[in-house]
Amino acid sequence: MKPKKSVSKKSKPRQKDKFRKILVTSALPYANGPIHLGHLVEYIQTDIWVRYLKMCGHQAYYFCADDTHGTPIMIAAKKANLAPEAMLENIHREHTRDFKLFQIEFDNYYTTNSPENRGFAEYIYKKSLEKKRIARRSVRQLYCEKDLMFLPDRFVRGICPVCGAADQYGDSCEVCSSTYAPSELVHPKCSVCGSPPVFKESEHLFFVLSECRKFLEKWIRTPGRVDDGIRKKMDDWLSGELRDWDISRDGPYFGFEIPGEINKYFYVWLDAPIGYMASSKNFFSRTKPELFDEFWKKGSKSELYHFIGKDIAYFHVLFWPALLESADFRVPDAVFIHGFLTVNGEKMSKSRGTLIRAESYLRHLDPGALRFYYASKLSGGLDDLDLSSTEFLSRYNADVVGNLTNIFSRLCGTIAEKLDHTLSDGLTDDGAKLEEFALARALETMSAFENRNFARAMREITALGDAINKFINDREPWKKIKENPESARSVLTDALTAGRILAALMKPVLPVFAAGVEELLAEKEPLSYLNLKSRFEAGHKIRPYRHLSSRIDPASFDAMFEEEKNPVMEKKDKNPGGEVSSPQSEGIISMEEFSRVQLRVGKIISASTIDGADRLLQIELDVGEEKRRNVIAGIWEAYAPEDLKDMNVVCVTNLAPRKMKFGVSEAMLLAAGSGASLTLFVSHRSAKPGDLLK
Ligand code: MSP
Ligand code: ZN
Repeated sequence: MKPKKSVSKKSKPRQKDKFRKILVTSALPYANGPIHLGHLVEYIQTDIWVRYLKMCGHQAYYFCADDTHGTPIMIAAKKANLAPEAMLENIHREHTRDFKLFQIEFDNYYTTNSPENRGFAEYIYKKSLEKKRIARRSVRQLYCEKDLMFLPDRFVRGICPVCGAADQYGDSCEVCSSTYAPSELVHPKCSVCGSPPVFKESEHLFFVLSECRKFLEKWIRTPGRVDDGIRKKMDDWLSGELRDWDISRDGPYFGFEIPGEINKYFYVWLDAPIGYMASSKNFFSRTKPELFDEFWKKGSKSELYHFIGKDIAYFHVLFWPALLESADFRVPDAVFIHGFLTVNGEKMSKSRGTLIRAESYLRHLDPGALRFYYASKLSGGLDDLDLSSTEFLSRYNADVVGNLTNIFSRLCGTIAEKLDHTLSDGLTDDGAKLEEFALARALETMSAFENRNFARAMREITALGDAINKFINDREPWKKIKENPESARSVLTDALTAGRILAALMKPVLPVFAAGVEELLAEKEPLSYLNLKSRFEAGHKIRPYRHLSSRIDPASFDAMFEEEKNPVMEKKDKNPGGEVSSPQSEGIISMEEFSRVQLRVGKIISASTIDGADRLLQIELDVGEEKRRNVIAGIWEAYAPEDLKDMNVVCVTNLAPRKMKFGVSEAMLLAAGSGASLTLFVSHRSAKPGDLLK
């Protein structure tokens, strides 16, 4: 298929009406763990967008639910000694609480373990059967004879067949990021009980995705569906082999039984996205039943958008539209895909204390600060987002406290008091100009919100804040208040007229701050984008100042990281049933142990790609010995072979040679990062091949 070039990123409203009907979702979090700051990148950004839409007067709905099925949840419940349903209830309560505290306002937060969801899952399956899009095939899968269950790839651990790293998942290696079949794993073990699994055949049901190729090609060709990066990926997927999708699992499994089958259940990913429909059905049947069809019927003119992380794109841009189309439902207008959260430049990690749960964040910091920080970092693309503690502090303290809040705190305290909290009739000429400037910023901000470029929206708002603060500074109302109170009153009125526009603009991101301003300014109606131009009536009285935000103390971050560090728990979680090392000694080695590692300068003589190995390069390395060493390194994504020639890098030379699928690797190159942003370590001054690093 030929992809059309230069497709605009902007989503175009398809309705002619001024007010649109829009259904928005976030991915459904798994019901076997707490909400953490990574999840919140998604829920906060979706919430901001929906709040923005609602403030424009659109009929927008935000639906979500717990994703409750599958083996991990079944096993977690077993371990907790609970019936799955009881565990789900606890988690649902926790998730709901966390979301609420982060001011995430769903119209419905439901569960996939619901009658509505079962109904739709069965219906969509039935329609797919009718269209002959379901196939049967025998599958050879790892099975634990002790636990009497088939093991999902993530429940098998063993040695990576590509790089030899120990204790890797059955489907991919966290060290070399290769993916493989669980059957290729060396010395596999059941991660529940530790015993070696066996292979067992069983019949599975498959969704025949290739039947949907034409439809998917058409779907993706419509402008605005996905980010350009994902579009390219999708083009690759669609021009390659579209493999059938295994949608059944054998019992014991926690999920919906497949009608007409014995001991077979829908795979969790089959019913998970259907949970979007179920959540909306559950809500609409209690509120406006006719809306369900208005949103989900084929040919619907209302809009449907999904926010998801890049890790689950395949499910949402291929399987999900294909399922909807098979059952003659409408299809999504767009899938908005975001990157992953890193903390201070690194992947979130339990042992470093950076896998921060929503709950522990709230013990130390203001939820508004996270909402503002994410907004200021999100521009609608696929890039990962870094939570840098220094930037987090400086932005919030400078922009929200020092800039936005400052407008109100400096005017509405003693100055307003001396003026009996009363505003003047109308604006001065300068005040009208400031209002005009604010309204121009408002147009820009709203268009940025619409296109999910929240970072731009935040820049517009802080620019407006700067302008209002400058307006106040230039006029020095604190001096005027004595000799010319009426002119001070004008400054107050002019600045607050622009200030209320600013608060309205900020409202999707900081609803609590905006509510504080509404209260302070004694607004008769909630601030919205429909009443930006309305002015204060003559003689309008505002209320006494109550604080709107306060500075963040840098110590809160460290306290939060400290609290999350829990190495004992980590071992237990990651390695159920496996060995536990003592927490004191964990990670610490002696000088003697360190000196046993030989780090040397190695010169790359040549590098080449390896046929059949996606991410690997074969390297000829000079480490000062007579014979050059052969190295197989997972750096293909980051380096072109020709760029590596003559580079002096750091390598480990006394690692036992590792036999890999594509030859023996006789040294290891040191690198940081992963994927395309991986970097090798190159000597800074001249160094000879073989030089020892100490
Ligand atoms: N249950 C599935 C989604 C089913 S949707 C029909 C799932 N759950 S999850 O809990 O793992 O993730 C929920 C959402 O949070 C996903 O969109 C995921 O990409 C996002 N994030 C989880 N960790 C994240 C980061 N560290 N950073 C940014 N987003 C992250 O996947
Ligand atoms: Zn087992």
